[in-house]
Amino acid sequence: MRDASPQTIYLKDYAPFGYVVEEVHLTFDLAPSATRVMSRIRFAPNPDAKDTAFFLHGENLSLISAKIDGDAVKPTLTDTGLTCDVPNVPFTWEAEVQIDPAANTALEGLYQSNGMYCTQCEAEGFRKITYYPDRPDVMSVFTVRINGPHPVLLSNGNPVASGDGWAEWHDPWPKPAYLFALVAGELVAHRDSFTTMEGRDVDLALYVRPGDEGKCAFGMQALKDSMKWDEDVYGRAYDLDVFNIVAVDDFNMGAMENKGLNIFNASAVLASPETSTDSNFERIEAIIAHEYFHNWTGNRITCRDWFQLCLKEGLTVFRDSQFTADMRSEPVKRISDVIVLRAHQFPEDQGPLAHPVRPESFQEINNFYTATVYEKGAEVIRMLKTLVGDAGYKKALDLYFDRHDGDAATIEDWLQVFEDATGRDLTQFKRWYSQAGTPRVAVTDSFEDGTYTLHFAQHTPPSAASPKPQAQVIPIAVGLLGPDGDEVLPTHVLELTDDSQSFSFPGLAAKPVPSILRGFSAPVVLDHTPDHAFLLAHDTDPFNRWEAARNLAKASLLGTIMQGTAPDTAWLDGVAGLLTDDALDPAYRGYVFAMPGQSQLAADLHEAGTTPDPDAIWASAEAHRKALAGHMADALPDLYARHQVDAPYAPDAGQAGQRALGNTVLSLLTLLDGGEAAQAQFDSATNMTQQLAALACLIRAGRGDAALAQFEAQWKHDRLVMDKWFGLQVIEADPDDAADTAKALTQHPDFNWKNPNRFRATLGTFSAHHAGFHAKDGSGYTLLADWLIKLDPVNPQTTARMCSAFQTWRRYDAIRQSMIGKELERIASTPNLSRDTTEMITRIREA
Ligand code: BES
Ligand code: ZN
Repeated sequence: MRDASPQTIYLKDYAPFGYVVEEVHLTFDLAPSATRVMSRIRFAPNPDAKDTAFFLHGENLSLISAKIDGDAVKPTLTDTGLTCDVPNVPFTWEAEVQIDPAANTALEGLYQSNGMYCTQCEAEGFRKITYYPDRPDVMSVFTVRINGPHPVLLSNGNPVASGDGWAEWHDPWPKPAYLFALVAGELVAHRDSFTTMEGRDVDLALYVRPGDEGKCAFGMQALKDSMKWDEDVYGRAYDLDVFNIVAVDDFNMGAMENKGLNIFNASAVLASPETSTDSNFERIEAIIAHEYFHNWTGNRITCRDWFQLCLKEGLTVFRDSQFTADMRSEPVKRISDVIVLRAHQFPEDQGPLAHPVRPESFQEINNFYTATVYEKGAEVIRMLKTLVGDAGYKKALDLYFDRHDGDAATIEDWLQVFEDATGRDLTQFKRWYSQAGTPRVAVTDSFEDGTYTLHFAQHTPPSAASPKPQAQVIPIAVGLLGPDGDEVLPTHVLELTDDSQSFSFPGLAAKPVPSILRGFSAPVVLDHTPDHAFLLAHDTDPFNRWEAARNLAKASLLGTIMQGTAPDTAWLDGVAGLLTDDALDPAYRGYVFAMPGQSQLAADLHEAGTTPDPDAIWASAEAHRKALAGHMADALPDLYARHQVDAPYAPDAGQAGQRALGNTVLSLLTLLDGGEAAQAQFDSATNMTQQLAALACLIRAGRGDAALAQFEAQWKHDRLVMDKWFGLQVIEADPDDAADTAKALTQHPDFNWKNPNRFRATLGTFSAHHAGFHAKDGSGYTLLADWLIKLDPVNPQTTARMCSAFQTWRRYDAIRQSMIGKELERIASTPNLSRDTTEMITRIREA
């Protein structure tokens, strides 16, 4: 049912539910189009609540019967739930509803994917399963019985009993309904076990479709590594006898942390060397860790309401990034996190979708699982840790787990434990949670009588979400280098709290070169133009050294775009020097080469007051790649040869770094040899990383047709590999061909558009092809809009997320803006547009 005028929900309106739920019993009789769900729920009046209205959420349910204490009742039904007269003493509510999992294409609630049943309840999917107070502050103990002919019947918690055609589960930990899960199907288990530091033996299982057994070992190892890491680093042990993970093909997100029964998008858990790239392996390791870590940060301590989402997501992203840094390389992880932050969070914070890390209102909560809540939310915690130090952070986290275990908590609770544990006043720091926008920090300096002074000025551009931003607490990690390149002051954290502020460093023999915002100590834009080439050569901070290379590249790219200048030799020399410096980690060197993305350059141009021309940006990037290849022509063949891995494939950071650098070099070589080396690598590849990288080079070189056909014939049977085949052709297409390529792929018999992975691989990838999506004739905008309009009634959540491709539309020229404006209007005026997509398009159009 669609709301004519969608309702806005406000943080300030929070009120507790009128009843507590003492226990929940659910029985499922599974049938594809007529599943029956029987609920028996013990309610009691909530002494802390003022409002005693008995409202249960419920959507798309057919109510068969309802009883209170055994007597039939006639509740009042609406599109969004029911109300009923209830006694003002504890009572038992019983209801039977019928639902239609086979028709559930939105993939929220109980649905079917390739014949198996599975659920997705976060954020508000449980209300599509039965009538319930579907809000995270209502927590209860669940017992679940599943009746169905499937060999595998799973739910949360521990198994109680099972027989032919049924199974019963009990989860002793009180939880909100969004953590409920059920899975039924013909699945096979990859099993292992883990003994916790408390001595609990935990049975681990990864359930997959028959045929996928060979893709489980890596995910299982990642799970065990995560369990151990959370014990070692946070002192948190697992708390049930079983931990199950299920892989499903149709899933809107990456994965979900349901208590004891994590459900994963198959792409986020299944891996083998032949079918998965090194990046896939790394992502899988991180997502398994993330969902596992939610067991404490999200499940044991959950959120009071959805405005507090960053309480669990920001913290858990921060924890999974610490884990990846420990498992792999800390500087490389930091660099890749900052790339993601700048590519996704900065545009959000600087455009019409800007909102604080803790938003104050929303229409559709699914639209607020954003880069701001996740990535900026994690950055805020990282800053907090920098400010209170490692020991303070540990003390605060211990207090958090101690004080709030079993709670549905708030950001106020979170900050209070830091204040109590460290004595620090966080009043001003809290603005990071309430103000939208990316602060800009301008730096100037002076040197007099041996004293060096850094002057900082901070300014956050006002936005609709935060019209009058105030000064934030910004930790700025600084080091100083002497004129000879030696470090004269090691990293030191300055705390910027005022609009402008100066810091002095006395006793210096000569004016130093500052290295500012080391490790990217705060999510800000730094306005500072130091000697990048000097920092690239001498900085001891690996992040800032990479940043120096990036700044050189950026200046050079922008120079070509704006003044038509040739690629800068300082950049060419600097990057060539690092690429061939074998003392540096190959993975790190791979990143030093990576130039700022084309969308990022468009943002930079826009900021500098120039209207970005996507074709000119594309041409500049091409010119820079060619220049670098030419500049390094003599070194490339040897560099390529030296970064081949002879040992049997392993997805570890060491080998992955070798391959990443080798493949970076291959892409340069291809510009010189027309694809000879790439063809040889494609023909001999024994793992997906090598095969896919070579295929990309061949497409770029204009000789990919045979390889693409061969790849398709080889991998036709494998959905996840075919997603790569769809995506690669789009992202490697020339700007003029990208829309046609994407369009042709949507006609391919394997383009199953109702599968979110396939839809994203094709159209999501297309919207990430900057020059292709923004093609002058507007064909890209029309193509995306056509498909969003088509997908919306089927899967609003995935549609709404992909609308963000239009969020930067005001950067472009009048003609493009007018074309995009028309497409936005066309989407907005589609009859029965979902609440999800309506909210996104409305906000984007308000820009
Ligand atoms: N709780 C989320 C999954 C989720 C997101 C459910 C949105 C409902 C709506 C899960 O913990 C998560 O954050 N998953 C991420 C991956 C993670 C590594 C950041 C995802 O699915 O992208
Ligand atoms: Zn999460």
